[in-house]
Amino acid sequence: METIKGTDSIYRISQKLRQEGHTIGLVPTMGYLHDGHVSLIRKSIKDCTRTVVSIFVNPAQFGPKEDLKKYPRDLQRDIRILKETGADYVFVPETDDMYSRDHKTGIKVKGLEKIMCGKFRPHHFSGVCTVVLKLFNLVCPHRAYFGEKDYQQLVIIKQMAADLNIPVKIKGCPIVRESDGLALSSRNSYLTCEERKNATVLFENLLKAAGMLKRENLGLREIKAIIMKNILSNNSVSKVDYFDFRKPENLEEIKNLKQFRQESKNGKILIATAVWIGSTRLIDNMVV
Ligand code: PAJ
Repeated sequence: METIKGTDSIYRISQKLRQEGHTIGLVPTMGYLHDGHVSLIRKSIKDCTRTVVSIFVNPAQFGPKEDLKKYPRDLQRDIRILKETGADYVFVPETDDMYSRDHKTGIKVKGLEKIMCGKFRPHHFSGVCTVVLKLFNLVCPHRAYFGEKDYQQLVIIKQMAADLNIPVKIKGCPIVRESDGLALSSRNSYLTCEERKNATVLFENLLKAAGMLKRENLGLREIKAIIMKNILSNNSVSKVDYFDFRKPENLEEIKNLKQFRQESKNGKILIATAVWIGSTRLIDNMVV
């Protein structure tokens, strides 16, 4: 595996790979890799002849009071994992190389970036889209792989790629979980022992809500009230940012279940939540 630092170098390499007829897969990450990341990389290796993994803790997607400084980093360990998994290139740019001092441009995906996580992290998705578009321009991938764990991010990136005619196929990959249901996340490393045990509250309540949607004759407001009470009774939960029922394809909020069931073609519902476990914000979702 080759480690590439410079933005010029990765562009040169990607052009060469394209000329040689390779199919390039890109897996953008912020590092501190876990099996969720690895599942994306494996998918890319299966589909493409060359896989580029980027590791860049993108300052533009962190708010001023967020965890940019303390975000976990361990490049040596990441490189070991990437070698074992079989990635071809790891792209690890410096911040100054990615963002020049007079960087002024930002991408906005109107509407979608203001709801759910965007309501609580106002500039987050603009930062994500800007860096992802830069990575697309540098790596020129045929396919790019994103996890359904960050469901809103996946929908927004698909929208951006379609709106801006970006010639890349966006591939969504299923959520990888611990055996007790907790979705893998680099931020899980912030949790204390007690918090880690209690963090299953997200998955458990997504399951519970899914069960209620399928079996019981309750409206969404009633289901949400029961679930919110349940989550807030957990000892480690300090706040629930949202617990929403939305259309998986466009993140439109579902307000009336009866009406939705009459009108929807596939009847699929995205249940998505963001919960603070102590001082750590975790997200999770389920499509039912
Ligand atoms: P990061 O949180 O490092 O995640 C990188 C990719 O791994 C994302 O597509 C994310 O959805 C996926 N992922 C994380 N946990 C997962 C899990 N448990 N199962 C499956 N996939 C999982 O998301 C980002 O970085 C950044 O916003 C980025 C897209 C790199 C832009 O900076």
